[in-house]
Amino acid sequence: MKAPINSYIVVMVTIRTMAESDLPAVKGIEDVVFTDPWSFQQLREELEQKALAFVAEDEEGLVGYAFARPIIDQVEILSIAVARHKQGKGTGTVLLDYIIAYARTQGIGKAFLEVRVSNTAAINLYKLKLFQVLSTRKGYYSDGEDAFVMEKTIDFA
Ligand SMILES: CC(C)(COP(=O)(O)OP(=O)(O)OC[C@H]1O[C@@H](n2cnc3c(N)ncnc32)[C@H](O)[C@@H]1OP(=O)(O)O)[C@@H](O)C(=O)NCCC(=O)NCCS
Repeated sequence: MKAPINSYIVVMVTIRTMAESDLPAVKGIEDVVFTDPWSFQQLREELEQKALAFVAEDEEGLVGYAFARPIIDQVEILSIAVARHKQGKGTGTVLLDYIIAYARTQGIGKAFLEVRVSNTAAINLYKLKLFQVLSTRKGYYSDGEDAFVMEKTIDFA
């Protein structure tokens, strides 16, 4: 029998609210995937400040996480990260979908974020989810790199 032309890898991850006990695993991923990782204290503060914080788990454990912050009628997506060896399998998409779905349940109509202009993987993910580039913030990051501000209207249909 002829083999299918395309194969698809579909991840099975569970999304749940982040707990303080997740922070060491979160920090482990943070340090590997970001050039300017948040400190353990910054991660803890974000969690304590009642940010929306979710983790993705598979059979091996914690494989990704996301932080977001509701601001009145908008939600700011602060961070989405997936363990390097688990990237490219749909986990980032699931985390982003989860935040958007959560925002929708809260009647939030817009999501926005900043992303490094060089971060093609993240920009592609956001564009796939219909985020649009609104503007550029010059020298937004500590190393001088610019950020795109991206925004998405959340539909309630
Ligand atoms: C950005 C990130 C969260 C994406 O997570 P992921 O689980 O790898 O993404 P997915 O598998 O769900 O991919 C969804 C889409 O993103 C885009 N994408 C993901 N990885 C990509 C890559 N290496 N190059 C280009 N596009 C990529 C693609 O459009 C992809 O859709 P496709 O599979 O149909 O082509 C992940 O790469 C990551 O953790 N990066 C480091 C941290 C970071 O930069 N976070 C974002 C800034 S806050």
